[in-house]
Amino acid sequence: PSNPQVEREHAILRQDGCRAKGGAPGFKVAILGAAGGIGQPLAMLMKMNPLVSVLHLYDVVNSPGVTADISHMDTGAVVRGFLGQQQLESALTGMDLVVIPAGVPRKPGMTRDDLFNINAGIVKTLCEGIAKSCPNAIVNLISNPVNSTVPIAAEVFKKAGTYDPKKLLGVTMLDVVRANTFVAEVLGLDPREVNVPVVGGHAGVTILPLLSQVKPPCSFTSEETEYLTKRIQDGGTEVVQAKAGTGSATLSMAYAAVKFADACLRGLRGDAGIVECAFVASQVTELPFFASKVKLGRGGAEEVHQLGPLNEYERVGLEKAKKELEASIQKGISFIRK
Ligand code: NAD
Ligand code: LMR
Repeated sequence: PSNPQVEREHAILRQDGCRAKGGAPGFKVAILGAAGGIGQPLAMLMKMNPLVSVLHLYDVVNSPGVTADISHMDTGAVVRGFLGQQQLESALTGMDLVVIPAGVPRKPGMTRDDLFNINAGIVKTLCEGIAKSCPNAIVNLISNPVNSTVPIAAEVFKKAGTYDPKKLLGVTMLDVVRANTFVAEVLGLDPREVNVPVVGGHAGVTILPLLSQVKPPCSFTSEETEYLTKRIQDGGTEVVQAKAGTGSATLSMAYAAVKFADACLRGLRGDAGIVECAFVASQVTELPFFASKVKLGRGGAEEVHQLGPLNEYERVGLEKAKKELEASIQKGISFIRK
């Protein structure tokens, strides 16, 4: 029997490039880990995004229920669900953007690196699927530890001969979202008016907010700098502790993931001046990966911005960040090369 969702998707896929029904631009997006704490609200927000014409929801459990639920929303995107490894290829074929929040979250007392043993294998398998089924897609990697999972993904793509460094982006947007919120609180401003660059990586001291470069321009006392830097670096742990064993940030993460994915899609569409922070292949420091501002365009992270002038506090922070990052990056690379 014919399935109207599948027929509508096929009609969209037959249309040229990113043009969806009615001539509006539309992209095909897959979420891997779509039934999880991040995956579900992320799927809901992506279904609300007018730039998305096809939304594929993949998980190893519960994706049919999440898909049925989300598919009743009266927005434009066609939603289809995929369950289990044997459906990974169908979930990925034809995708422009793949967002990956698959993997286990922290419990109190754990570091993100404690997730490595389980999540490294999950990311490896999913990236092998991407290399096979949608090697040109932009990848937004959320699964922790991001400082190691991005190097893992890069090695998988290199091995498959599909690696395009511009298209692999570790999602550090939640650090920026938190930094904007906490800084706005101190300054007494609306967080929507504040922009804080956060560079380095996505764990503890590797998260380096550049408070000297906040927009609008402002200054902080050394106590404020100390308080804000620490709060931004420990934002994830603050949520893990408050959730008391039931998981880590999911709702603010889904918000941040959609903010970042939307920026990637606007870049793909050809919009000018899209700049966000992300953890990418980089020559900004001596490390092979580093988070900084990147310009998003049709090819992904088309330009990686330099860090700009740092103050003494930030220079000390940068040295600490690089030390930890180097080990985490190497751990990811070795996982595939071993
Ligand atoms: P969760 O346990 O609620 O959900 C994870 C989902 O992944 C589950 O539905 C699970 O079935 C699925 N999954 C497991 N193995 C899979 C596989 N092989 N293929 C597809 N799906 C698979 O966890 P969560 O709270 O959604 O967090 C997910 C990940 O995101 C964690 O690693 C967490 O640390 C990370 N995270 C990162 C950031 C960031 O800023 N980058 C922020 C928050 C959480
Ligand atoms: C976060 O920053 O909230 C995530 O990386 C999840 C975590 O483990 O802290």
